[in-house]
Amino acid sequence: MLDRDRIRALFDLRSSYNARSGGDITADPYPAWHQLREQAEVHEGTVHELTGQHGDLTFHGLPDPGRPHYSAFSHAALDDAYRDPGLFASSPDPVDLEDGAPSATNSMLSMGGERHRRYRALVQPSFAPARARWWITNWIEQTVHALIDGFAESGQAELNTDFCAAIPILTITGSFGIPPEQALDLRAAMNRPAEVIAMVAPIVAARRAEPCDDLISVLTQAELVDSDGSRHRLSDAEINSFALLLLAAGSGTTWKQMGIVLATLLQRPELLAVIRDDRRLLKPAIEEAVRWMPTDPMFSRWVTRDVDFHGAHLPKGAVLHLCLGAANRDPARWDRPDDYDIYRKVRPSFAFGGGEHICMGMHVARAEIRAGVEALLDRLPNLRLDPGAEPPRFVGMYERGVTEIPVLFG
Ligand code: HEM
Repeated sequence: MLDRDRIRALFDLRSSYNARSGGDITADPYPAWHQLREQAEVHEGTVHELTGQHGDLTFHGLPDPGRPHYSAFSHAALDDAYRDPGLFASSPDPVDLEDGAPSATNSMLSMGGERHRRYRALVQPSFAPARARWWITNWIEQTVHALIDGFAESGQAELNTDFCAAIPILTITGSFGIPPEQALDLRAAMNRPAEVIAMVAPIVAARRAEPCDDLISVLTQAELVDSDGSRHRLSDAEINSFALLLLAAGSGTTWKQMGIVLATLLQRPELLAVIRDDRRLLKPAIEEAVRWMPTDPMFSRWVTRDVDFHGAHLPKGAVLHLCLGAANRDPARWDRPDDYDIYRKVRPSFAFGGGEHICMGMHVARAEIRAGVEALLDRLPNLRLDPGAEPPRFVGMYERGVTEIPVLFG
């Protein structure tokens, strides 16, 4: 279905990401995060420096050396930060969709307040839990089964790239109306927005002329209510900003999180067997995995006025890094927080963020992971890690995931 070597090259955490987000970091950061949280809820410094990693990690606006940096590690501090987006803004600069450089961050991701609400309201209904079936039937199900068809006969597979990586990129590009054979071109161009826009432009034009049942049609038909109450259909610049954001937010994250879920379950064969027999347990297994090891354990906020916050004085203009990985294992909220325990009482975690920017695609991501794991369990009897291959390892700092998931079945 997709060129296997190309997808392996494009979705290798260790090579393609390491300069920006620490994909080559193999140390487990959680012991350091526990220690930091015990010392203070908020520390001066960036998450990777405080964790003992001093590489050049430029992801998420880092290092942004002109500003003071702080990092928050407790659940209570993150909760307060998410509840006050006026104090902790998503961006230091105003978003300019018409004249600013197109990018995934020059989008509603970096907006605040009323403006953010108006943009988000346009697409939110397409991502609501009630729309999960729309995503599953139109794009997820066929992708999952076509990918399994590709390796079902061989008795073995490498699930991280050949399965987990392929599902989200094919889902989001499918929802744009882009054919599978162009999906990897789009992923490869992700850091070159002009190329992505050129690929999406003919679809936008076609949907404006004749809408159909896909996400680009939702965008071309949407009417934004401006601050003066007037309405307008989205401009090309507004649609492009959504397209770049959705592509960036929706492909890499779900790939890595699905890999984390699968590796975690395959490393616990007895638990996997119980879930195979009682599929109701799959939901808590996924929720617990996103708490226990969120793929993106840090997002940043910009401090808009001087404030004393959970024991630290934060000056206006500082960057506050929210370490949601650490907050998700705060013993003040979860007993035995380091245990992966699918039977624990589910309490909401920050795996998908919090507050007004909480992940818009979380129900789609959950649907993809669930459909993927269910189909593997349905179709591949005796699915197990390949004992002769290198076992999966969790790697990464700001984008965590697994190296490889070599499996045997049959
Ligand atoms: C397991 C997979 C995913 C994880 C862990 C994840 C995580 C997150 C997090 C933590 C945020 C908040 C960012 C912030 O506070 O600054 C976010 C925002 C967002 N995510 Fe996801 N995401 C996932 C999958 C998806 C998917 C599949 C889509 C779309 C198809 C998506 C679309 C978005 C969008 C549009 C936003 C911005 C929301 C806003 O600014 O209001 N995400 N995501």
